[in-house]
Amino acid sequence: MSDVRDDLSLIPAPLSVEAPADVPPYELTRATSLAAGPGAEGAAAWLRRELGAATGLPLPAPAPGAHDGGRGAGRSGGAGACTGLRLSVDRSVGAELGPEGYRLTTGPDGVEILGGGPAGVFWGAQTLRQLLGPDAYRRAPLPGRTWQVPAVRIADRPRFGWRGMLLDTARHFMPKDTVLRYVDLLAAHKLNVLHLHLTDDQGWRIEIRRHPRLTEVGSWRPRTRWGHRASPLWNETPHGGFYTRDDIREIVAYAAARHVRVVPEIDVPGHSQAAIAAYPHLGNTDVVDTGALEVWDDWGVSRNVLAPTDEVLRFYEGVLEEVLELFPAEVSPFVHIGGDECPKDQWRRSPTAQSRIRELGLADEDELQSWFVRHFDRWLAARGRRLIGWDEILEGGLAPGAAVSSWRGYAGGVAAAEAGHDVVMCPEQQVYLDHRQDGGPDEPVPIGYVRTLADLYRFEPVPPELDPAAAAHVLGAQANVWTEVMESQDRVDYQVFPRLAAFAEVVWSRLPEPAERDLAGFEARLTGHYGRLDALGVGYRPPSGPLPWQRRPGVRGRPIEGSPPGA
Ligand code: ACM
Repeated sequence: MSDVRDDLSLIPAPLSVEAPADVPPYELTRATSLAAGPGAEGAAAWLRRELGAATGLPLPAPAPGAHDGGRGAGRSGGAGACTGLRLSVDRSVGAELGPEGYRLTTGPDGVEILGGGPAGVFWGAQTLRQLLGPDAYRRAPLPGRTWQVPAVRIADRPRFGWRGMLLDTARHFMPKDTVLRYVDLLAAHKLNVLHLHLTDDQGWRIEIRRHPRLTEVGSWRPRTRWGHRASPLWNETPHGGFYTRDDIREIVAYAAARHVRVVPEIDVPGHSQAAIAAYPHLGNTDVVDTGALEVWDDWGVSRNVLAPTDEVLRFYEGVLEEVLELFPAEVSPFVHIGGDECPKDQWRRSPTAQSRIRELGLADEDELQSWFVRHFDRWLAARGRRLIGWDEILEGGLAPGAAVSSWRGYAGGVAAAEAGHDVVMCPEQQVYLDHRQDGGPDEPVPIGYVRTLADLYRFEPVPPELDPAAAAHVLGAQANVWTEVMESQDRVDYQVFPRLAAFAEVVWSRLPEPAERDLAGFEARLTGHYGRLDALGVGYRPPSGPLPWQRRPGVRGRPIEGSPPGA
């Protein structure tokens, strides 16, 4: 007998699914109502809008007195007396499955979703949409379609609280609509963190009112290398764009309504050439003519880094003040300050940097970077926020409250977790989605290691050497989408899907005992899931390889041969 979970093609796989033989499927009709108890209104509004568009059904609130109005009196057996969908927050589900957990039950008269909290109700509503089949992802009804919810009893909860994706909007600007669309795609896979990489050498993407040149100058570049560093080709079309303050507010609110937190990243003190091009005094003016710098048109790590001066600290405090205003603490408690790949040679040569090292009694340039990061750790903590940075922030001593994004493998995350710091695992060898997903010659602009769908599915966020106390510091994981060789949404879709579906299951679904995931079962469910991605218009990589228009013949990448370390 096949596993009922395979037949339903649910991705990520729920904790438990039963298919009671004595309950018929429930059919959605024009008579179906949609009731929301306190705390479930947001999920109900979302479901009415999405399913209403796909099915053409009105899904009205039930007439007063028709039933208990979705108060969710605490039973988890049936769907009550009304015919319809009933969404509510339920304390006992919360106690059992946590705020993001839910129970979804088909009864003779409808479907009940009880969430541990509002987020749990929302994830349950996402499962309901999956149960209705791929056409539930369309934006207008197809003629003659009927809508059956199979008879199921589902109990579900996430394995990790941080289930994320990084989108690099700096190397190639991704228009606001692409970001909003990705919020929906993350939510459809029960992912709940969108890490927005907003600044880098190649572009500054967030409007900062007090420093307008960051976007006037820093948000565009005259040309772009076409392909990776080794490519001799250039795209001579100017490239640019940025999010206005209202764009950011819209993205944050849109994401919050889908229980997705947006983590803004302002990368310091490296990866800052766009900012220095806009405001030359931010750079090491005593060793380079920063007035001559432009937003970088090439890939790699720029040597032009911020100067370790009080003036620079004040400038970035001003930037972060505006960032905190746009990303409220309730939805974005973490602020990412980068900290990665900061070449120190300008600091070594700079008399200003060297006198700062002496004045502060520091040992070297690594400690100078640590001083810089600690400043913002304290500054953010004083404002009720938490700093997170790339694992280089461990070098020279980690700031007390800081969390770490472990990208250069697992080692930084292991060291940080063992020292009692929270960690988000995103090792480049495993979950960098810019890395190619096949070793064949048709892979577009191939870079990095071959990281197949199956490799992503086998990714394990918690390294086995961590003891339970340290393992508890692993908040979760994220897949990182760096866009040097992704010039458009189509290219992002190709690199991200279907691998993000495998990643979603890794971070949501319980690790089986023994710790071996069922790849064949996942692949069987993915066959059904492709139908959803098709209905959503996602340009994923087909299992047979890239379609002709997904290839980039003649554009050179930078493939790394062999297996990644630790694979
Ligand atoms: C990174 O990939 N430089 C965080």
